Amino acid sequence: MTRLLRPDAGGIAEAAGLLRGGGLVAFATETVYGLGADARQGRAVAAVFAAKGRPHFNPLICHFSQAEAAFAEVQASAVAVRLAEQFWPGPLTMVLRRGANSRVDLLAGAGLDTLAVRVPAHAVARALIAAAGEAIAAPSANRSGGVSPTAAAHVMADLGGRIAAVLDCGPSSLGIESTVLDMSGERPRLLRPGGLPVEAIEAAIGVVGRGIIPAQAGAARGLRSPGLLVSHYAPRLPVRLGAVDAEKNEALLAFGAHPPPARLVWNLSERGDVTEAAARLFAGLRWLDAAALELGLAGIAVMAVPMDGLGLAINDRLARAAAPTS
Ligand code: TXA
Ligand code: MG
Repeated sequence: MTRLLRPDAGGIAEAAGLLRGGGLVAFATETVYGLGADARQGRAVAAVFAAKGRPHFNPLICHFSQAEAAFAEVQASAVAVRLAEQFWPGPLTMVLRRGANSRVDLLAGAGLDTLAVRVPAHAVARALIAAAGEAIAAPSANRSGGVSPTAAAHVMADLGGRIAAVLDCGPSSLGIESTVLDMSGERPRLLRPGGLPVEAIEAAIGVVGRGIIPAQAGAARGLRSPGLLVSHYAPRLPVRLGAVDAEKNEALLAFGAHPPPARLVWNLSERGDVTEAAARLFAGLRWLDAAALELGLAGIAVMAVPMDGLGLAINDRLARAAAPTS
């Protein structure tokens, strides 16, 4: 039985107790819901991989309530500290060299010599992390390869019965995962576009490498960011990108005013706003997938979304959703 906890003092204390005891608790962040475990307990970390069906070569992000706690686990450069001052708490994950004294379990970092760290901008998440003793490993709380959850109901649908509890904080405000920036090398490199637009990072620290990896699932072991498998965020129905019309047997993921007709439509943003579209993306993919399957439709047609701001992250997720699943 997976318990649904309320985001009040009692619920937070209970969730923290479960985490300290080695249990798995999903919790909201401003980006998506995370599946939390105490990053210092190897068995708890292993249970995260098992519950998600996640391959062990794909490392987890460690979450902290404040920058000081995060920097205690890694070797922070001056630029990393500057980024933290400007963007934490918030949707930025930094990959840094693991600190010599880090007690984060090796499996959380998939055995790499780096660790991904982030301080989420969600008061309940930070209260939970602090109460649980910091260093909470938390991938998105979906089954591996599926669509990220932006509501407690999504987590229940994917992981209900497999985890101890979900701390229900309502829908995630941003709706798309954090931007992952590799700060472990000579110069910063974008590993995953996300909730913090790369333009904002570049305004702060100058040009950032765009090593967005044309990943191939089979080649995952050698990748700098092994989570960047091509096929990811995949609904069950096939996804067709760049649609201007929907076929009779297709549902439509629309963007902008006056979309073409379709039997089933989810409009990401009628006013053509990419920030609103990001917040509605994963809920839309989940809803369209379920409703279209029920109606016997054969696929999901997706209209073009501009590349600026959060559009880069949206297009990244859509490209992965459209990639073949094997
Ligand atoms: O917004 C988010 O980032 C959410 C919330 C819960 O914080 N978390 C999330 O985690 O999206 P996950 O596991 O679904 O995605 C983490 C990404 C993966 O692509 C993983 O490969 C990459 O970060 N990553 C983690 N540790 C890394 C490392 N040491 N080096 C390179 N990439 C790493
Ligand atoms: Mg994920």
